Amino acid sequence: MSSTNLDSAMRMRTVRTVSELRAALEPARRDGLTIGLVPTMGALHEGHLSLIRTAHEQCDRVVVSLFVNPVQFNERTDLERYPRRERRDTDLAAAAGADLLFAPSVEEVYPRGFATAVEVFGLTERLEGEARGAEHFRGVATVVTKLLCMAMPDVAYFGQKDAQQVVVIRRLAEDLNLPVRIAALPTVREHDGLAMSSRNSLLSPAERARALALPAALRAAGDLAATGERSSGALLAAARGELSRSGVEAEYVALVNPDTLEPLESLAGEALLAIAARVGAVRLIDNTVLSAQPTGEDPQQPKREAITLCSV
Ligand code: PAJ
Repeated sequence: MSSTNLDSAMRMRTVRTVSELRAALEPARRDGLTIGLVPTMGALHEGHLSLIRTAHEQCDRVVVSLFVNPVQFNERTDLERYPRRERRDTDLAAAAGADLLFAPSVEEVYPRGFATAVEVFGLTERLEGEARGAEHFRGVATVVTKLLCMAMPDVAYFGQKDAQQVVVIRRLAEDLNLPVRIAALPTVREHDGLAMSSRNSLLSPAERARALALPAALRAAGDLAATGERSSGALLAAARGELSRSGVEAEYVALVNPDTLEPLESLAGEALLAIAARVGAVRLIDNTVLSAQPTGEDPQQPKREAITLCSV
């Protein structure tokens, strides 16, 4: 560890209970400092670190939560195989600017007798909700609501990589009058375009190569949109074509309204193109925002940035 990392690691504390978390944040709150929360399930990568770095730039104190939330996993094997690397995560979070790591046990978050759930209707029934079942977003909504109540941050940071998750969390924060700003940051990608994900480490080298079909599919649809194509059917066919060329089986490929997640017949304004696919045993998701550019623009200058910036 470099001396800078060592300094930051010494500055950062790890707490495991809600009362320790509240006590640790109390002085900052009393002094009117701003608090940022970055909820994670650990196995931190550059995507998570970009959220922590931004929180560090924008807030006086940054809390990173590390909790593999069992109730949002619809497959037991997915939960069991989920990578757990707390020592490494502690160093990375500290170096990225976290002041506090909140790493509670399952019993701390869901004590005996726990009997409440947060359910966001409608938005959770499509895409990931349809593919993974209602319990997935019920689990996400419940744990995020709890984390927001536990840390009471001014701002909570999420990644656009999980675009539907952001829409669902914005909805619940508004509906439950939670006094927090929900910030969504662009998807961070590997040098070759694969969206960073904790699950990427589970891919074999051959699967890792095939996984590039996901960003390629987004790019193919983006390139077609840049030529003036507006039909949802044609754009989705372009994306599906890239997936099947690599033998990657899509769970869904959808063009939807970025706010309501309603399916779109054609591209007008901005649209969210979302993909879920299995590469071997690993389930990956990715998305981009397509926007209807006036036709006649240079098709050699497609909005590739949409795939790197993903700014909804
Ligand atoms: P996790 O998958 O660990 O992701 C934590 C945060 O990092 C999420 O907001 C996610 O969107 C963001 N993230 C993941 N990959 C990213 C990438 N390549 N670029 C930018 N941001 C990225 O999402 C969850 O955990 C959980 O559902 C959670 C919100 C913590 C609730 O349990």
